[in-house]
Amino acid sequence: MNAVPTVGALVGAVGLVGVVAGGWYWLTPDFFEVGYQPTQPGSGFNHQIHAGMLGLDCRYCHTHVEESGAANVPSVATCYGCHSEGKLDNRVKKEKIEFIRTAYAADRTIEWRNIHVVPDYAHFSHDVHVNAGVSCYSCHGQIRGMPVVHQVKGLGMGWCLDCHRDSSLKARGGNREGTGSNLVPPEKVTDLIWAEQEWFSKPVEERNFNGVTPATLIESLHRNPPQHCAACHF
Ligand code: HEC
Ligand code: HEC
Ligand code: HEC
Ligand code: HEC
Ligand code: HEC
Repeated sequence: MNAVPTVGALVGAVGLVGVVAGGWYWLTPDFFEVGYQPTQPGSGFNHQIHAGMLGLDCRYCHTHVEESGAANVPSVATCYGCHSEGKLDNRVKKEKIEFIRTAYAADRTIEWRNIHVVPDYAHFSHDVHVNAGVSCYSCHGQIRGMPVVHQVKGLGMGWCLDCHRDSSLKARGGNREGTGSNLVPPEKVTDLIWAEQEWFSKPVEERNFNGVTPATLIESLHRNPPQHCAACHF
């Protein structure tokens, strides 16, 4: 009987830790946003066909990724350029692209559902990352192989900071020596197949593209990526 309060307290403590740990995990973006894949309008859009099989560059449609903070989704006119009346009728079933022609004729936009979202109180910009040599692959995964885009990274604050630390040098005021393992040669940022097969598949020390290595890439950044609160929360 004397043991009852002790055991009770222990069980309570263990239970509490479980609840806290569970809440901690379930409340992180990793749990409920990775894999997020909404239903898209019409027959949707297939990256595996367009960016994989046809090999279109990401910037053919996401025209602003290098110049602006926000990556854009293409307007219906971009689709219509290839899917106008009569075009490609021998390759694509008419019903599948009807939604493009209808939207174009009615001068309506296609309401693509947004997948990757950072909350309003944190600021993220594409241009700085893409121009610094961070591949779309590091943040969005192998888009060229996705029939339907889904989210592969949690996009939480720890994720942002891990990469920022790994892209920092002590000589520039970093708190630890980064390896540059997330950087690719800038001309390869949209070459996701190359990135997966020829770069990220190799250990950091063995990556070399005409003399460009993770060490030279981290060296060539002008400054360390920020870790102070106001850089992202303002
Ligand atoms: C022919 C046009 C086209 C090309 C080329 C293209 N995309 Fe897209 N992309 C779209 C459209 C349309 C959407 C919105 C529908 C969807 O999510 O599938 C989209 C959505 C996305 C999204 C999800 C956006 C969100 O809502 O969070 C990502 C990430 C993305 N594209 C990355 C890429 C990458 C990386 C490449 C190059 C490997 C690429 N795209 C090539 C047209 C294109
Ligand atoms: C550069 C030309 C080009 C552009 C731009 C383009 N497509 Fe396509 N699309 C094609 C070709 C070629 C095919 C047929 C591929 C095949 O043979 O299977 C195709 C196939 C399709 C299909 C049928 C295959 C499927 O997914 O079921 C749909 C739907 C489609 N495209 C939607 C779009 C949308 C939406 C856009 C704009 C965001 C777009 N396409 C932009 C060339 C293009
Ligand atoms: C450092 C990480 C990172 C890199 C590199 C990156 N993205 Fe993104 N992307 C994000 C984040 C985070 C969001 C959500 C942004 C937001 O909510 O403001 C996003 C959103 C998007 C969207 C949706 C935009 C919208 O308005 O619906 C598209 C499209 C996209 N990215 C395409 C690309 C392409 C193409 C590349 C490569 C050229 C790329 N991204 C590189 C992190 C990244
Ligand atoms: C895979 C690596 C990687 C990830 C993930 C990443 N970053 Fe970065 N970020 C960088 C690098 C590299 C730079 C340095 C760019 C430069 O200074 O040339 C940078 C720079 C920045 C800057 C400074 C840009 C400026 O205009 O001063 C901000 C702000 C930033 N990142 C926010 C974010 C946020 C928010 C996230 C998460 C949603 C994020 N980053 C995720 C690699 C990353
Ligand atoms: C590199 C960019 C970046 C920096 C630097 C940064 N944050 Fe964040 N922070 C984020 C992002 C992105 C989120 C949103 C995460 C999500 O979706 O849950 C966030 C979320 C938060 C939240 C909401 C709770 C949570 O953890 O999700 C708080 C509080 C916060 N940050 C405080 C801080 C403080 C304090 C600092 C400085 C010590 C800081 N942040 C530095 C990017 C950053």
